[in-house]
Amino acid sequence: MGQGVRQSPIIVWVVTGRILFMRPVIIVSGASSSLGVILCQELVENGYKVYAGYHFNRAKILRNQYIVPIKLDITSSDSCKKAISKTISKEKSFFALINLVAISPSGETLDFSVSDFQKILDVNVVGSFRLIHEVLPKLPKNGRIINIGSLSGLISFPKFSLYSASKFALRVYITNGCRKEDTLSTSPQEQLPSFLFHLLHRVQQEIEFQH
Ligand SMILES: NC(=O)c1ccc[n+]([C@@H]2O[C@H](COP(=O)([O-])OP(=O)(O)OC[C@H]3O[C@@H](n4cnc5c(N)ncnc54)[C@H](OP(=O)(O)O)[C@@H]3O)[C@@H](O)[C@H]2O)c1
Repeated sequence: MGQGVRQSPIIVWVVTGRILFMRPVIIVSGASSSLGVILCQELVENGYKVYAGYHFNRAKILRNQYIVPIKLDITSSDSCKKAISKTISKEKSFFALINLVAISPSGETLDFSVSDFQKILDVNVVGSFRLIHEVLPKLPKNGRIINIGSLSGLISFPKFSLYSASKFALRVYITNGCRKEDTLSTSPQEQLPSFLFHLLHRVQQEIEFQH
């Protein structure tokens, strides 16, 4: 990313004389994850409104006037479609999608069945594709799509080879495939959260406008 300024909340002057701050809207999938909870808080503190996707753990989503919990099953195309269209209909448009959802079961080959592996790929790879597919046609030119990667997408660690395979696939799809397509209005990005603060810092950088 080049130098740029972070998108500031848009100021709208209303006839009554009140000033309203319109916060850029970001959808975060996996907002109920350990990293997701902190990421949402950080985004709100930096002037964004977050639609926080959870699967089962709604209780983990922070209570805040700028965080809207949204039910999302990333393995269901219908659920992804509903979550995105619900957000768009309420907000008219949005600024970014951050894909955080991932499952990371550990074990060796014989510990897993074929359907276990299929599930890992469905959640970690196809799930991100489902959301990207829904979001892309509605994303503004300056919008952002960020997938959260992992060191396991660069190196395969013992007992995490299936998770690793999914993170490798996501990285290849994003960095070498999807983002080079001619018809895209924006380039999906991948960020590696090696350290939490590094993640938050980099996500913030990626949400900057490029001038
Ligand atoms: N934690 C780390 O040390 C670390 C290191 C490197 C990279 N990462 C990456 O950072 C991201 C978050 O990791 P984490 O460890 O914080 O995750 P986590 O705590 O294990 O949480 C997993 C998240 O995925 C959601 N989820 C699972 N299945 C879903 C489905 N079918 N539909 C929608 N949501 C679903 C869960 O929702 P519910 O809780 O609502 O069910 C939860 O929000 C992942 O992409 C991971 O690869 C993490």
